[in-house]
Amino acid sequence: MKIGLLGIGTVGTGVYEIINGEKGNYFANTEEKVHITKVLVRDIHKNRKTQIPSEIMTDNFDDIINDDEIEAIIFVMGGMEPEYSYMLKAIERKKHIITANKAIVSEYLDVLLKKAEENNVMFLFEASVGGGIPIITSLKETLKINRIDEIKGILNGTTNFILSKMAGEGKDFGEVLKTAQELGFAEADPTADVDGYDVSRKLSILSSLAFGSHIKDEDIYKRGIRDVTKADMEMFSDLGYVLKFIAHSKLENGEYCASVEPILLSSKNIMSNVNEEYNIVSIHGNIIGELQFYGKGAGKNATANAVVGDLLYIINNEYRKEDIHLKNKVISRGIDKFSGKYYLRVDVSNHDQFSQVIDLIDSYSKFKKMMVNKDRIFVVTEEINANVFNELTATLKEKGNKLFYARIE
Ligand code: NAP
Ligand code: HSE
Repeated sequence: MKIGLLGIGTVGTGVYEIINGEKGNYFANTEEKVHITKVLVRDIHKNRKTQIPSEIMTDNFDDIINDDEIEAIIFVMGGMEPEYSYMLKAIERKKHIITANKAIVSEYLDVLLKKAEENNVMFLFEASVGGGIPIITSLKETLKINRIDEIKGILNGTTNFILSKMAGEGKDFGEVLKTAQELGFAEADPTADVDGYDVSRKLSILSSLAFGSHIKDEDIYKRGIRDVTKADMEMFSDLGYVLKFIAHSKLENGEYCASVEPILLSSKNIMSNVNEEYNIVSIHGNIIGELQFYGKGAGKNATANAVVGDLLYIINNEYRKEDIHLKNKVISRGIDKFSGKYYLRVDVSNHDQFSQVIDLIDSYSKFKKMMVNKDRIFVVTEEINANVFNELTATLKEKGNKLFYARIE
């Protein structure tokens, strides 16, 4: 089988090495010959970490799309365009698609699945969620018997790396983000990681499959982790909590809530012990109960493993059209169904501001605990609805207060 590879950055290099370096067991042992015959990049003169024959490198997509011998194309470029247009063209030319691009899968899942089915080709996207964790395949298997009503997990390697290094080694946010970028975990624009867009796209993909309806990224509440400080981290440790960036969606009677936000977990919670670039996904099925999946959520080898796994589905012709249904009618209820105690830190600069902040918090929720340290107030509230608490923090921000907050679960 001849294959085109679009992009040879972090993930593309891993894919190339598994197939050509005979690292992978399958390619070392099989008679099946798989060749990457063309590689698309932006800059064909750039120095590459892996030696690639110059005659297969191109900066012109037409060289790949017009090559009738290429049966499948691996899309690991990033961004929406031109990758999405290339995908549509490739499907029209009856080429199978494998992608790690969650931005495109999350936005166009229904269109791409339909188009692939019409053209009798496969559209596979295991690497778009959870890096090396085979979560898409496992979800499809679970759905054969179960209805899935809840998904929860850590779905971003970069932010989990940042939070675990800040908590474990007392490092600064910016310093650890730089390391995550150097290790190839972060997106080309790391604000997608830090502000929750990457996780929200992944939650959109998993929730769409689980709830049988295209759950759009824009219907998922998201709040990032960039305001967390060392002082917060020290307070979490004193209180016995661990901060994690949690994706959560649940479905009840045709209504769903979905959110991506920093959440405080008890240090004994299994998710508290998922560190560095590792991810965890918990799904709840009506028959099987809770299932958890754990593994590396980002990086060259883990992600390339998922891409090549999809390629083997194509080679072995194992994919079935009826695997995915997106025909259910479900309604978004925002974050209505989420509630809990909240941790809140507000920075104050004088006594008047201190009193105003305390009065405002008090008008929304009674405190369970309050600590004051120099120019910061730390509060743990009683149980409160997520929407009501967000109203309080929005008011505090409008008044110019710097703060960080997280629900305690
Ligand atoms: P990357 O290191 O930035 O590599 C991107 C590659 O695509 C480069 O080789 C680049 O060419 C090529 N490229 C980008 N835009 C192009 C264009 N317009 N025309 C031609 N070539 C283009 O990205 P990555 O980290 O491998 O990620 C690739 C995709 O996988 C993204 O969608 C990402 O979200 C997803 N993903 C990444 C990870 C991860 O851990 N990194 C994990 C899961 C999913 P040049 O080399 O010439 O610049
Ligand atoms: N930037 C993403 C992450 C890559 O850190 O999880 C894997 O999807």
